[in-house]
Amino acid sequence: MRLLKSYELRELYLDFFRKKGHAVIPSASLIPENDPTVLFTTAGMHPLVPYLMGEKHPAGVRLVDCQKCVRTGDIDEVGDASHCTFFEMLGNWSLGDYFKKESIAFSWEFLTSPEYLDIPKDKLYFTCFRGDENAPQDTFSHDRWVEMGVDPSHIFYLDKKHNWWGPAGTTGPCGPDTEIFYDTGKPKCCPDCDPSCSCGKYLEIWNNVFMEYNKDAEGHFTPLAQQNVDTGMGLDRTIATLQGVESVYDTDAFAGIIARISELSGKNYKDSADTIKAFRIVADHIRCAAFMLGDPRGVTPSNVDQGYILRRLIRRALRFAMQLDMPEGSLAKVAEAVVAQYGKFYSELADNAARIYEELDREELRFQKTLKNGMREFERIKGGFTDGKIDGASAFRLYDTFGFPIEFTEEMARENGLTVDVKGFEEAFENHQKKSQAGAEQRFKGGLADTSEQTAKLHTATHLLQAGLRKVLEDDTISQRGSNITAERLRFDFSFGRKVTPEELKEVEAFVNAAIAAAAPIVCEEMTPDEARAQGAIGLFGDKYGERVKVYTMGTFSKEICGGPHAGNTGDLGVFKIKKEEASSAGVRRIKAVLE
Ligand code: SER
Repeated sequence: MRLLKSYELRELYLDFFRKKGHAVIPSASLIPENDPTVLFTTAGMHPLVPYLMGEKHPAGVRLVDCQKCVRTGDIDEVGDASHCTFFEMLGNWSLGDYFKKESIAFSWEFLTSPEYLDIPKDKLYFTCFRGDENAPQDTFSHDRWVEMGVDPSHIFYLDKKHNWWGPAGTTGPCGPDTEIFYDTGKPKCCPDCDPSCSCGKYLEIWNNVFMEYNKDAEGHFTPLAQQNVDTGMGLDRTIATLQGVESVYDTDAFAGIIARISELSGKNYKDSADTIKAFRIVADHIRCAAFMLGDPRGVTPSNVDQGYILRRLIRRALRFAMQLDMPEGSLAKVAEAVVAQYGKFYSELADNAARIYEELDREELRFQKTLKNGMREFERIKGGFTDGKIDGASAFRLYDTFGFPIEFTEEMARENGLTVDVKGFEEAFENHQKKSQAGAEQRFKGGLADTSEQTAKLHTATHLLQAGLRKVLEDDTISQRGSNITAERLRFDFSFGRKVTPEELKEVEAFVNAAIAAAAPIVCEEMTPDEARAQGAIGLFGDKYGERVKVYTMGTFSKEICGGPHAGNTGDLGVFKIKKEEASSAGVRRIKAVLE
C-alpha cells in the first residue's frame, strides 16, 4: 500500500480519471447556486444534479472533481476521530455514459494497482444493494466484483439504509450503490461483525452510486432518462486509512493546523482527552469557517441561514480556543495555517485570505466579550446547584444576558458533571416571549391578520414569493424583514439593496405560479432548530435556541420555519400577481401581491 500525502491522493485521483477520458472540473461553490432549499453543498453530486437529470454538461459526459462540502448536522460530534464539518469529496462521474461495469473496473484498478493506491486485495470488502419493492437486488455489481477477483466471502448484500444513495432532500436522482471498505485488521467485535458495523474494523473509503432513478415528492421511484455514475471518496477519511492513523486529525492535512494551535496555546495536542477534543474542534471549525469566508460566494457571520452556521462555528471554536488559553486574535492565525495547507489547490482561499482573517478577527472581538462574561457567570453559579442540574431560569439568564446558546450551556454543564433543565429553559424562554412585545404569538403568526382560509393561502404565497426572490435575484441572503397579510392581499418586506426590475418581478411571479401549477402538497414537520438547519430550511434561527420549530415544506419550492397556518396544497392558491414593488427603508424592499 502506498503511503500518500493528502494532496498526492487528490492529484493521483484526478490524474487517474483524466487518463480514463474524464474532464477535470473545478469544485463548485460551497453555497448551492441552483438550489434554494439547502444552505450548503453537502455532497459531490449536489452541484451536478441538473446534469444527472439530463441537462448537458459543457465539459462532457465523463467528469472528475474534488468538491468542497459542508455538513453541520453532526456539529456536536466534531472532536471525535472521524467527524468534520468541512470535507472534500473526490468523485468520478458518468452522465449517461458508462455504468456499473466500467465504474467497478475503474475503482478496482485505482485501489489495487501498484501505480495507484496498491491496497492489498484481501484487505478490501464490498457491499451491494439487497433489493426491495422499488428496485431489484444488485447482482450485477456483486458478480462484477467477483470477476475482478474478489472472494465472494468479502461481499455483503445490505438493505436500503446502507446501500442506496439520494440527495439530502426527499426528492431527486438516486439509486443503489456499492460501497468499498478497508479492513483495519482489528478483531471482529462480534461474530456478526460485517462492513455495516460501526465498530471501526471496516472503514468505508469509496461509494459508487448508480443513479438511475428519480424519487418524486410522492415517494415514487421512476427511471431517469439516463443511467449515471456518482462516486464519492472522502479525501480525509481515505488518507487517514492509508496512513494508518487513528483519526483524520492525525493526517498530514491537519498537521500544520494542529502545530499552529499548539504554538498559540503552548499545549500539546495529545496532552489529555480534553486537549485532543479542543484541538480538533478549533482545527475543524476554523478550516470550515475559512472555506466559507473564502468561497467565491463568500458567507459573512450573521443571525440567519449560512451566516448563522458560520457564526456558530466561529463562536464554538472560540470557546475551545479560550479553554486552551489561546491568546486573542488566534483564530485568524489558525486560519493562516488553513490557507497555507489548501491555498494552492483552492486559489480562492489565497485570493480571499485578507477577508478571511479580518472577518475572523471581527467576529472574535464581538463574541469575546459576551463569552468571557458568560463563562465567569457560569463558573460563579455552577457550584450552587444542589441536585447537579442547572435550572431553566439560570440557563435562560445565561442565554438572555450573556448570549450563551443553550448548546454551549449544555456542553459546559456536561464537562462539569452537571445537567441542564432544557424543558425549564424552554418554558422560561416562552414566558419571556409572551411578555416581550415581539411575542411568540405575533412572531409565529407572522403578521397574519386572521387565520381564515384565504389569509392562509396568501401566507403560503408569501413563502413561495420569498423562495422565488432568492432564486430569481440569485441571492440567498435575502430574508424576511416583515410581513402583513390579510384575506385580501399580502405585504412582504425583505432585505435587498436595489429596486427589483419589472422583468425580475415577472420571473418571480412565474416561479410562484409554477409552484402553484405543480400542486405540491404542503407538509408540516416539527423538529429541533438544528434539524431544520440541516435540512436547509430558511427562517430566523438566531433567537430561538432550544425550542422545537415547525418546518413547512412545499414540494421542492420552499422549506421554511414557520408557525403556520398554511394551505394544504400549493394548487389551492389561484393565480399569483405582484401589484407593487417599492422601497420600505434602507436596504429593505416591499412587495404587495394578491391571489386572483
Ligand atoms: N453521493 C455519494 C456520497 O456522497 C457518492 O458521491 O456518498
